[in-house]
Amino acid sequence: MAKIKSKFVCTECGAESPKWMGKCPSCHEWNTMIEEKETVVKTKGVGLSTIHTKEKPQSIIHIECGKEPRIETGMVELNRVLGGGVVPGSLILVGGDPGIGKSTLLLQTSHALAVKGLKVLYISGEESVRQTRLRADRLGALTESLYVLCETNMEYVNDAIESVQPDFLVIDSIQTVYDPRVESAPGSVSQVRECTAHFMRVAKIKGIATVLVGHVTKEGAIAGPRLLEHMVDCVLYFEGERHHTYRLLRAVKNRFGSTNEIGIFEMSEDGLREVTNPSELFLSERPLGVSGSTVVASMEGTRPILVELQALVATTNFPSPRRMSTGIDHHRMALIIAVLEKRNGMFLQTQDAYLNVAGGVKLDEPAVDLAAAVSLASSFRDAPTRPYDVIFGEVGLTGEVRAVSRAEQRVKEAEKLGFKRVIMPEKSLKGWTPPAGIEIIGVNTVAEALKAAFG
Ligand SMILES: Nc1ncnc2c1ncn2[C@@H]1O[C@H](COP(=O)(O)OP(=O)(O)O)[C@@H](O)[C@H]1O
Ligand SMILES: [Mg+2]
Repeated sequence: MAKIKSKFVCTECGAESPKWMGKCPSCHEWNTMIEEKETVVKTKGVGLSTIHTKEKPQSIIHIECGKEPRIETGMVELNRVLGGGVVPGSLILVGGDPGIGKSTLLLQTSHALAVKGLKVLYISGEESVRQTRLRADRLGALTESLYVLCETNMEYVNDAIESVQPDFLVIDSIQTVYDPRVESAPGSVSQVRECTAHFMRVAKIKGIATVLVGHVTKEGAIAGPRLLEHMVDCVLYFEGERHHTYRLLRAVKNRFGSTNEIGIFEMSEDGLREVTNPSELFLSERPLGVSGSTVVASMEGTRPILVELQALVATTNFPSPRRMSTGIDHHRMALIIAVLEKRNGMFLQTQDAYLNVAGGVKLDEPAVDLAAAVSLASSFRDAPTRPYDVIFGEVGLTGEVRAVSRAEQRVKEAEKLGFKRVIMPEKSLKGWTPPAGIEIIGVNTVAEALKAAFG
């Protein structure tokens, strides 16, 4: 007879305790301990945990390795985020809000890999095989070697893996599968942790590239213990504004590549389409020749993206003026407003100021400072900016404009999209020759930049 124990598990770090505690003894978070029942079954040789490779430790110089093999997924944007493709035997966690398109993305990826001749197993715990088939019909994702199973019991999932022997495995989602030997409910901390640990062993031992879909909590983190993110090789977030059709795929952890890259997709009737020229998409609704609008060249990973910044400065009705920003850190906005007041003589204390990155993108590099400053000044003075200017540069506390990285790539992107002038840090002009088709204005202070923009 199995012995039933009750224990308390921290949802943040996975620490366990026999008693309830207000504060987790391990990660010191408050109110994270929840009760879970667990059945400890002592059976001999269960599952893959007893399998080992019987290899002896070997000297690092004698270990054979070529270049990391990569499976190209057939989707350029996904390859980029993963660092060049899927690594066999890696475990990838994909998180995102409900309805954002996780299942769609993975079904399309599964199809693309199956077309290349790989064996793909798609385990759906949320939708029936008929629903998946209907979706595949709509996406045009029907291939012989794409196998689908609707199953949540880990033992049967294991049997399916044994019989299909896939190269690529999708578990949609990790919160719906359960290990019958652990008695807590599917989606609980113990279940998610056990199941993930199991899939990790399967992936490593059999060399199956595995993708786990994870639900996110209200706060936007992947539901389940934080240590889930430590167990896997890559953590990707699929995000997007509910009211926009495009979606961003972002890596927050990647053992095989950079975490700076983003992939951009557009959701359409027949599935996710890759956006190969994001600047065009982000600038498509831009009004020309209005006050408060500027275009900034921002780097997303290794790729320059042109995005519109909009500012609105209006007389306030409140005792203390409002400062609101979307897509830009509001601390940076406060700093830029302070610089405009102190160094450029703009009296903004009686003004509300709003700053918005059009299209819902988040820009977190300092190179957007100068464009933000020009946008705010433009709206404050009600002076329109020139529609074919691109502005970038970091602003310092004395009102100086500091150099930024990859100036050449930013300028080239601006030229490619038909912009006529670039206002940028003079210090970033060293060491490369600007293209002939575009006027470059190097500036050293915010005052110079304002003069150039409104001159
Ligand atoms: N028949 C349809 N036509 C067009 N778009 C659809 C259709 N069905 C679903 N979608 C789109 O797909 C999205 C659901 O994607 P899905 O992959 O199921 O999300 P997730 O797995 O992240 O919950 C919906 O938000 C909707 O935009
Ligand atoms: Mg889904």
